[in-house]
Order: sequence, then C-alpha cells, then structure tokens
Amino acid sequence: MKLSILRETDDGETRVAVVPKSVQKLIKLGFEVSIETNAGQHAAFTDDEYKKFGATIAKTSKDAIVNSDVIVKINPPSKNDLKHLKKGQIWLSQLFHRLNEDLMVELKEKGLSALSLDAMPRISRAQSMDVLSSQSNLSGYKAVICGADNAGKIFPMLMTAAGTITPSKVLIFGVGVAGLQAIATAKRLGAIVEATDVRLECKEQTESLGAKFLIVEDDGVKVEGGYAQEVSEDYLAKQKEVVNKSLSQADIVITTALVQGAKAPVLISKEQIEMMKNGSVIVDMAVAKGGNTALSKPDEVVHHQGVKIVGVSNFPAQLPTNASELLSRNIDTFLAHLVEEGKFKWDMEDEITKETLVVNNI
Ligand code: NAI
Repeated sequence: MKLSILRETDDGETRVAVVPKSVQKLIKLGFEVSIETNAGQHAAFTDDEYKKFGATIAKTSKDAIVNSDVIVKINPPSKNDLKHLKKGQIWLSQLFHRLNEDLMVELKEKGLSALSLDAMPRISRAQSMDVLSSQSNLSGYKAVICGADNAGKIFPMLMTAAGTITPSKVLIFGVGVAGLQAIATAKRLGAIVEATDVRLECKEQTESLGAKFLIVEDDGVKVEGGYAQEVSEDYLAKQKEVVNKSLSQADIVITTALVQGAKAPVLISKEQIEMMKNGSVIVDMAVAKGGNTALSKPDEVVHHQGVKIVGVSNFPAQLPTNASELLSRNIDTFLAHLVEEGKFKWDMEDEITKETLVVNNI
C-alpha cells in the first residue's frame, strides 16, 4: 500500500502530520511512504531527513495524491486536494465531520473512505491516538506563555533590593487537558493559581497541582463520552457569582471551557471584563468555537477598558516541532491499530474504527 503525506496549506498552519521518525514505523507496517516536498519545512524537518528514514519525495500535492492508496494530512482536504482524489482511496486527517457535512457527502460521492482524527473516542486505549488531547496539552502550556507575554507583570514573587514583587494571580476556566497543563505551567512559573470546572473530579486534579479549585455546585454536572454536557443558564449565573472575586483580582485568565458538539459557553460577560483589573489579560483558547468571553475575536487582541482579550485559534501551530512530533505519534499508533500485515482490518466491532471511519466506502 502506498501512503502519502501532504504539505499543509491552511493559513498559519506550520505543522506536518508525520515526522521523519514515524516514516520508519509506517514502512514496518507495510506502507511505501511518500511525502510532498517541504511538508516539514516549518516544523524543522527537511526532505533529506524524510529520505534518510525511507520516504520518497513527491514534487507536488497532485503527484502525492494520484499515486497513493492512503493520503494523510492534519487539516481537511483543500479544494485542490479534492480535484485529484479518486475512488477507492483512504483519506486520513482531522475532518470535524459534524461541522463539514458537505465535504463528507463529496468524499462519499467520490467513492473514498475517510478516517477522522478528531472523532477518536475518549477511551483509555485510544489515548495514544488522540490528537485533540496531544495538541491541547501543548496548547495549555503555550496559552500561559502567551498570557505572560501580554502581561506587564512577571509570574513569580521576587524579592529584590529595590523592593518585593508580588506573584501574579492566574485564573483558569476548564480543567480538561488544556486547563490542567495551563495550571501546571502557571504554577511552575510561580503564579498563584485558581481554576474552575463543571466536573467535580477536577477538584482533586487541580489541588494535586497546587492550585485552588472554585466549586460552583456541590454535585457538579454529568459527563458523557469524556466530555461535559451543556450547563443551564442558572448554573452559568451561579458560576459568575462564584468566580467574580477571583476574576477581579486576576492578572491572567485562561479560558479553555469546551462542550462537545456545541458552541463554547460564554463564561465571562462584557460586564465581568469591565470588573477586571487594569492591565489584566485573558487568553481565550476556545475562540475558534465562538469564545468563552463575550468580546473574544479569533486571532485578534481586543482591548477593552484596560483589559486585553487575546484570541488564538491555533496554538499548536506556534509549537510546530513538538506539535508535529506528538501528532505523528498519534497517527502512526492509529495506523498500527488499523493495519495488519500491510492491510486494513476494518473491524467494525472495534469502537476506535467505528467512530473514526466517518465516510465508509470500504
Ligand atoms: P477538554 O474537553 O479536555 O476540557 C474542556 C473542559 O471544559 C472540560 O473539563 C469541561 O468540563 C470544561 N467545561 C465545560 N463547560 C464548562 C463551564 N461552563 N465552566 C467551566 N468548565 C467547563 O478540552 P481541551 O482539550 O482541554 O480543550 C479546551 C478548549 O481549547 C477547547 O475549546 C478546544 O477546542 C480548545 N483548543 C484550542 C486550541 C487553540 O489553539 N486555541 C488548541 C487546542 C484546544
């Protein structure tokens, strides 16, 4: 089977789906591997490194696509990719299939099958294949660094001959994968950290990292498939009351609240932003899904009454080397799960296969 890796073409995308080290693993699985020239350039992987690990280099995306059985990319196919895709091929990337129904119909009509990386079930045995988790982990780190960069204050307490600097206060909304890493990073940098989440199991995790957990309701909310469900207006109103004191004292706020399959909940209103300290910074990680604040805008810094609201839609692209390494490991593990003796097994009893095969022309 021939497998090709395409160069990413989305604006601002710097990652590559497969790094040179994984090429070796894919060859062991029985693939002949080809990669579009310069696909790893922005992530610091050269064509020569890919060749060293056994890949051939395709001059164009068309060359890579037409000669392949399996095509791998991080982002969904571009219009140009779609022109060259043909019946019987297998497409593998993030597809966000529920949001991209037209694309799913197009792939189905073309006779392709498609595996969606973001449809990976949140179960323990799929953890090593879960791109959303691997990328969120890095993003939680980077969001804190971004907050620090945008603030006029340092994180740790500093005693100097010229006086003592008090530590920064960081407040984190959402203690999932990104939030936990954000707590750990802010703590490592010396900040005083508080966090809140609708899931009560996050209390222990937050405290084990040395941060304080703000409880909104004693019984928390239901979780399905590893994701929290939407909460009521009453809950959101109560949450605002609980966090307002911390919010008004915070120097940096990181928002990471996500409800699967829904728009991001607005956790910080315009009025709450107006209560915040002059010079404080909000980094909204959920901005691509509508944002956790009322004023966030994707890939913009909004200034409102002395508060900066920074919306970054692709943090992993700011860490292309590590983000690609983790993605690549997720993808080679996923392919190892699907393939046996150089052939796809297509075990539809298997939850991982069933959930990720979002276009089935097998
Ligand atoms: P996750 O599902 O692991 O964590 C989200 C957390 O939000 C969960 O713990 C959930 O219980 C909590 N939550 C839901 N509703 C809440 C509410 N009303 N109040 C408080 N907490 C609430 O998700 P993960 O992987 O940590 O991602 C977090 C967000 O960051 C997502 O929106 C994701 O799309 C985004 N993200 C953004 C990136 C970027 O570059 N901007 C990169 C990676 C992720």
